[in-house]
Amino acid sequence: MLTDSFARVHDYLRIAITDRCNFRCTYCMPEDGISLGPNAKLLSFSEIETLARLFVQHGVRKIRITGGEPLVRPEVEQLFEMLGAIKGVEELGISTNGALLTAHLPSLLANRVHHLNISLDTLRPDRFRSITGRDEFEAVNKAIRSAVEYRVDGSSFASVKVNMVVMRGTNDDEVLDFVRFGEELAALAHGGPAMEIRFIEFMPFPGNEWNAEQSIPWRELLSNIEQEFSLRPVRSPNAKSSTAKSFEVQSLRTQEPLNFRIGFITTVSEHFCAECSRLRLTADGEFRACLFGQDGVNLRDMLRRGETPDAMATAITRVLKDKWPEHPPVHELAFLNNREMISIGG
Ligand code: GTP
Ligand code: 5AD
Ligand code: SF4
Repeated sequence: MLTDSFARVHDYLRIAITDRCNFRCTYCMPEDGISLGPNAKLLSFSEIETLARLFVQHGVRKIRITGGEPLVRPEVEQLFEMLGAIKGVEELGISTNGALLTAHLPSLLANRVHHLNISLDTLRPDRFRSITGRDEFEAVNKAIRSAVEYRVDGSSFASVKVNMVVMRGTNDDEVLDFVRFGEELAALAHGGPAMEIRFIEFMPFPGNEWNAEQSIPWRELLSNIEQEFSLRPVRSPNAKSSTAKSFEVQSLRTQEPLNFRIGFITTVSEHFCAECSRLRLTADGEFRACLFGQDGVNLRDMLRRGETPDAMATAITRVLKDKWPEHPPVHELAFLNNREMISIGG
């Protein structure tokens, strides 16, 4: 088991498979972009598979594929197949902006990538363009609906979560619309995937021009939503290590119990580091124990030097031993010597 000095067990690995993206979200990408390395710096699919197997041998049970935008990586379906075949992975998921998702649904479902997290920050096409820099609202909206409805021989995705980064003055007037959107999707899901709409507090990263005013504390959102919906806190099955505080939703208008949840990811107002179970692999092979930095070790370099799995496991354990109990105060996060959000994969 991969345990740190504070007895936190790490069984969840997030693997960024590219630092490229087809969107330019203001909260993620610095305005003048990031310097992209040559493709040779990226872990190859077989290197990713080797490292994933090593982590699984040491207790990882959940893997999430991230980016940049993971679906821009050429031939990504081969990787779904490789990761889907690893025994011991109980939960396999992907976090995507959704623009290219519809065409990949068959391969994701067939290869056990059953937990889809899709970013969507607005339901208004013009706003979508100003937040992401792209005119892809319809593609993402269609992908979310298709994912929710998708069935092959009666099987569906296990969960579809919509991630909305809430920014004061940009999209906070749409929070209730997103809850209603969730109701609509839950009706479409109809016995299929569990639906969750997650409201994410805007987090500071180098280059994303964060300011405290724009980040809305989750309790403020909660009380706005409670004006119209009745909410009941729930512990999700993986609640101990979940990023989100989740609630079941009951509409005050219809009084119908709805089969979906909303969640809040509260990094800024109430961090959840004490329950962290996450490990990260960046697209260029750096192993990191925290989203907000701290030095890691480059496992790609170790692999390419021909070092043994034992040596890599020792290096991983060493990094984990130095994992901090919690990330520094929020106002310091933007000034840390961290990498940009897009190159860590969230
Ligand atoms: P699940 O696997 O469904 O629990 O998803 P997730 O929340 O881990 O992943 P997702 O990629 O959907 O990320 C949603 C939000 O959570 C993003 O804003 C991430 O940056 C943030 N997030 C993911 N992992 C961590 C973490 O370890 N710490 C903090 N503070 N935020 C995280
Ligand atoms: N604050 C909060 N969430 C962010 N994401 C990207 N940048 C930020 C930020 N600054 C989210 C994306 C995506 C997830 C992987 O990370 O919206 O859903
Ligand atoms: Fe791309 Fe996701 Fe970053 Fe937007 S948040 S620029 S979609 S990686």
